[in-house]
Amino acid sequence: SARYLLLKNGLVADHHDASQRDVLVFKGKIAAVAESIDVSALDCLTLDISGLYLLPGGIDVHTHFNIDVGIAKSCDDFYSGTRSAACGGTTSIVDHMGFGPKGCSLFHQLEVYQQAAQNKAVIDYSFHGVIQHIDEEILQQMQPMVNAGISSFKLYLTYDYKLDDGDAYRALKQLKKVGALTTVHPENDAAIAINRAQLSAAGKTTPEYHPLSRPLECEAEAIARMINLAKMADDAPLYIVHLSNGLGLEYARLAINQQQKVWVETCPQYLLLDDSYYQREDGEKFILSPPLRASAELNKLWQGLSDGSIDVVATDHCSFTWREQKQPHHNDFTRCPNGIPGVELRMPLLFSEGVMKGRLSLSQFVSLTSYQPAKLFGLYPQKGCLELGADADLVIFDPQQSVSINDDTTHDACDYSPYSGLSCQGWPVMTFSRGALVSLNGQFTGQEGAGRFIARKPFKL
Ligand code: URP
Ligand code: ZN
Ligand code: ZN
Ligand code: ZN
Repeated sequence: SARYLLLKNGLVADHHDASQRDVLVFKGKIAAVAESIDVSALDCLTLDISGLYLLPGGIDVHTHFNIDVGIAKSCDDFYSGTRSAACGGTTSIVDHMGFGPKGCSLFHQLEVYQQAAQNKAVIDYSFHGVIQHIDEEILQQMQPMVNAGISSFKLYLTYDYKLDDGDAYRALKQLKKVGALTTVHPENDAAIAINRAQLSAAGKTTPEYHPLSRPLECEAEAIARMINLAKMADDAPLYIVHLSNGLGLEYARLAINQQQKVWVETCPQYLLLDDSYYQREDGEKFILSPPLRASAELNKLWQGLSDGSIDVVATDHCSFTWREQKQPHHNDFTRCPNGIPGVELRMPLLFSEGVMKGRLSLSQFVSLTSYQPAKLFGLYPQKGCLELGADADLVIFDPQQSVSINDDTTHDACDYSPYSGLSCQGWPVMTFSRGALVSLNGQFTGQEGAGRFIARKPFKL
């Protein structure tokens, strides 16, 4: 097999510019990027990719594979989940550890997730720690976790393992001290609980009531609260996950304009789908938290992407099958598992709706899908760029190819796609993971277990 791989004449983009260049790969790493590269060695495979775009592979820093949410277990494991990612041009994921037994140590969950991912993942992976309670022991475990390559931790302000304000504050302080980034699912749990109880008592439990139980002010309030707690916690860095609305973005902008260390993630569902989907007969397919919002919010998020106040697009892939896991709860959103699939379509949807429609430059696309995730989560410069020596994690887009999405388009284990019926202009036709072809024209060509755990570096500005 060829030892050198030479990708010639593509439009090559990273987070700061795009131009026609050749890219040479050797032993799984970027060996050269230049206007014209010629290799005389016999053992060189040369591909002419004229007319195609060559970009750093996608990094999805928000997935939930293999997760047990109590009322259900997600249908994608680390094999089907990463296979799906690879087919959509994503070459690394950072998954969220699930909740462990009450009171368990941070290392317990790390072991559980290492077991679940090794010999399964087809692309490289890491994990976010999840803080399910705070006590002295947990605070003491944070530094050794960072030393073990886990340099970000998620706090939930709602669901069963929610932290109260005092525990969130303690977590922020200690995580800042040990060199970790705090990420937060911000929603006001008390207001949600009251809304749910009232709606349930009135028999209002079909999918259209799900968004009414979690109005955008629930989310925006919790964003503002966390921003202020982070500021008080010795200016701890804070990453807001899955932003769904413009008011929350305004609070984040206020902090960012005052140089506070706040970063914002949104997801394709909040950019492309609105709350009218809950009116459909299959509205439960779209039950997730935060919920889809009114269509006016979508433009505000697109504005945030183009002006740089949103830093990352990730997916929050958390898949449950429609027939077996979601549809049986059509009549009661409080029993329907929350979450939707999406890891495969993040890159194609954002490319089509962003780059091809002129809302994002190619470099902005790279920044949102690969460079910023790598920088914030300690993967750079091994990932997220085309620097010499970086891993040859690459995606090649064909801007001419158009694809209509249906429930069979994706390679996950879910039986539906929330994006069925949409179409994409431009498609990822090849994905390379450390120089190995893992997807070609919609076919998975990788290997179960080929992915490696990435010990991430501590958080640094
Ligand atoms: O509804 C969602 N988003 N489920 C996944 C867990 C989370 O909140 O991120
Ligand atoms: Zn344990
Ligand atoms: Zn969440
Ligand atoms: Zn999530």
